[in-house]
Amino acid sequence: MAGKIPAHFIDELLNRVDIVDLINSRVPLKKAGKDYQACCPFHNEKTPSFTVSREKQFYHCFGCGAHGTAIGFLMEYDNLGFVDSIEELAGKAGLEVPREGGSDSGPDYRPFYDTLEQAARFYQWQLRKHPDAGKAVNYLKQRGLTGEISVDFGIGYAPPGWDNLIKQLGQGDKQLERLRVTGMISEPEADKCYDRFRDRIMFPIRNHRGQTIAFGGRILGDGKPKYLNSPETPIFHKGKELYGLYEARKALRKIERLLVVEGYMDVVALAQFGIRYAVATLGTATTAEHLERLFRTTNEVIFCFDGDRAGRDAGWKALETALPHMRDGREARFLFLPDGEDPDTLVRKEGRETFEQRIIHSTPLSSFLFDKLEAEVDMDSLGGRARLAELAKPLLAKLPTGLFREMMQQRLAKKVGLETHQLGNPPANDTHKPRPPLRKKQGAQQTLSPIRRAITLLLIKPELGQVADIPTEWRDFRAPGINLLSQLLEIVRNQPNLRTAQIIERWRGKPEYSHLEKIWSTATELPTPESGMEMEFRGALQRLVEQQHEQETTQLLERVSTGDASEQEKQRLGQLLSEKQKIADLRRRSD
Ligand code: CTP
Ligand code: MN
Repeated sequence: MAGKIPAHFIDELLNRVDIVDLINSRVPLKKAGKDYQACCPFHNEKTPSFTVSREKQFYHCFGCGAHGTAIGFLMEYDNLGFVDSIEELAGKAGLEVPREGGSDSGPDYRPFYDTLEQAARFYQWQLRKHPDAGKAVNYLKQRGLTGEISVDFGIGYAPPGWDNLIKQLGQGDKQLERLRVTGMISEPEADKCYDRFRDRIMFPIRNHRGQTIAFGGRILGDGKPKYLNSPETPIFHKGKELYGLYEARKALRKIERLLVVEGYMDVVALAQFGIRYAVATLGTATTAEHLERLFRTTNEVIFCFDGDRAGRDAGWKALETALPHMRDGREARFLFLPDGEDPDTLVRKEGRETFEQRIIHSTPLSSFLFDKLEAEVDMDSLGGRARLAELAKPLLAKLPTGLFREMMQQRLAKKVGLETHQLGNPPANDTHKPRPPLRKKQGAQQTLSPIRRAITLLLIKPELGQVADIPTEWRDFRAPGINLLSQLLEIVRNQPNLRTAQIIERWRGKPEYSHLEKIWSTATELPTPESGMEMEFRGALQRLVEQQHEQETTQLLERVSTGDASEQEKQRLGQLLSEKQKIADLRRRSD
């Protein structure tokens, strides 16, 4: 276990980081008075109720109640743990995260980074100075790489021989041990060790801070194994790292999109041709951790594969891994290359522009998903279409709740044919609800349902009942607590002078009484400032309208599918669906 991060450091970090800049880099903000606003990234909405205050260094959504500091925002939005959020902010501010000492302070990895840095420099130097360097340089030239791009990627050369690196760095037991831990030497038997990488082109793999954490080594020309990679070590986890991400960040001011390819050479060759946003997984399939890292960097990710069978299968696997990460606003596409080509060979053949056209016109996740499944069934038969629904439903169920998921469900419903098949909706996913933040008390607030929030606000400030245009549509909504809210609203509207205690008194002896009392006694912890209460109240009621619409849509879809729907009901369904579509369009335009 690593030592605790001292509180004074967290204070200092929050002093240095501006929450407005931080959030603005992920969710574009507009100035509104002295605060900043946007449509809330944590729930769907048409009008912005997500507010960021520079003065308070705090964000708050009047619609869903999400709120917190810069650290809390990163935890929610980037899906990071507390410590990772701190690390991320510290990296931005150029600070090292200190740890409190003591018996539980974690291992110190700095010597390993140092060793690998020395190794990387040694290999780079060998590419210039070693008597055999000529053949390595020729190999790189023959693969079309300039010296400039080799320098950008820190490419080097491990010369032939068993102990060049050991001789260079491994003097003394300590250094030898470091080479061992970082995977730079092989040890077939005790007392026998030699350099892992010999006579190979060396690609340093760097972490997000540019520290070398591992190497990939390619043989010059043919021979086996073609690539040799560092093993898993305490500082290198294949399933987490993306080759080229650090270099992309360094080369580009803003990363608009990332192209995920398979090989080191693909990344470097694309960079050579001016496509600086390619990254490679390190000989593994794309993992969930890769996905989070990719989408933390950009909203648009394109997966590139060979066009052959194996490539398509790998693409499908990536799709399945990507589904749970497809929050609204994120986009994944798939690019399948002609048979026998990889990005390296293709970009060389056709040049940057044509290759980028391929990227731009790559297949959206939605099309890839449906095209693949439709190819597996007979879409002309009822049974085939039912089978499509069966295949698609578990996949769509992996999507986080949101507009994208709803649109995919609609698309499926349309394909399957609403009159003939029943399409139950999978249960809501909670993955993109705000996670409980740092402190427990706030956590309780975060998860309040809109009904509970509306009731709480009415108890704190009964005058809210006088808000002129309270929507009434949600009253047909079936949800726990809705009757209580309706009754409460009626009372505060008819008797504007009642105080809260008096209002609650109306329920004495009824089951709701203790609920109301409990809500009221804890309500003072609501973090909303007085001035924002009306907005939050409206937000909660608006959310109820949306939930009611969702419920009604599901019911109508069911009636249509069983053939029981009247003309009027079909019209209403059309209205509801087109409204959803409008919201989706609005959001897309504002993205
Ligand atoms: N790979 C590996 N070990 C191998 C072969 C491949 O780790 N023996 C990984 C490497 O990360 C490599 C990627 O898989 O970059 C893709 O492999 P491949 O397509 O065979 O290599 P290319 O990148 O096309 O390499 P080159 O163009 O240099 O032949
Ligand atoms: Mn290749």
